Amino acid sequence: MKTRIAASILAADFGHLSEEVQAAEEGGADWIHVDIMDGRFVPNITLGPPGVAAIRRATGLPLDVHLMIDEPDRHLSAFVDAGADILTVHRETCPHLHRTVQRIRELGARPGVTVNPGTPVETLTEVLSDVDLVLIMSVNPGFGGQRFIPQSFAKIERARSLLPPGPANRVELEVDGGVGAENALKLARAGATMLVAGTAVFRHREGAAAGISALRAALDEKA
Ligand code: DX5
Ligand code: ZN
Repeated sequence: MKTRIAASILAADFGHLSEEVQAAEEGGADWIHVDIMDGRFVPNITLGPPGVAAIRRATGLPLDVHLMIDEPDRHLSAFVDAGADILTVHRETCPHLHRTVQRIRELGARPGVTVNPGTPVETLTEVLSDVDLVLIMSVNPGFGGQRFIPQSFAKIERARSLLPPGPANRVELEVDGGVGAENALKLARAGATMLVAGTAVFRHREGAAAGISALRAALDEKA
């Protein structure tokens, strides 16, 4: 599977969110990654469903909504109604993970599951056949611009080995946090199919399109 790019709007200018999302779309982003933080599960607060709806109006790209919130079950339908295509929940916030994943699919979105850096990916084993996406957090969630945790390479390899092999396997293996041109190719080789990038896209000194091009160039390197 070719490795693609999800532009994380956490690093965008929230005063010009529509324009920023459109710049990422025009620059060739495959998905828009939207970080939802509640100030409880993670120390930061970002957007709720109205923010997702505003982004939905700005782009036709799939919205990859990453829920960093306690008790996500209470809010799943609101985020699907707001326009989430992929809805990813944390293993750490879901005591009934299997039920939560089924509920996301019933609501009409594609379910994703994720683990913090300190949580083994093997804790997702029992739901892997029910999800469309597995996200490996390569920073502790809450903030953009953090340093990539190097143990994440091996964790992505372990996640890849847990997923069914071959072209029939449609599960995206996504990585989020500290992703840039310097580690993109190594992440793809470890098995990642979707790279989330915030700082590397929206804080690129020549703009979002240049940030996406730099990531793609890194992915295309033959070595
Ligand atoms: C962190 C978020 C990430 C964040 C990544 O909690 O889940 O999506 O935007 O930002 P960068 O790419 O700057 O590390
Ligand atoms: Zn995220």
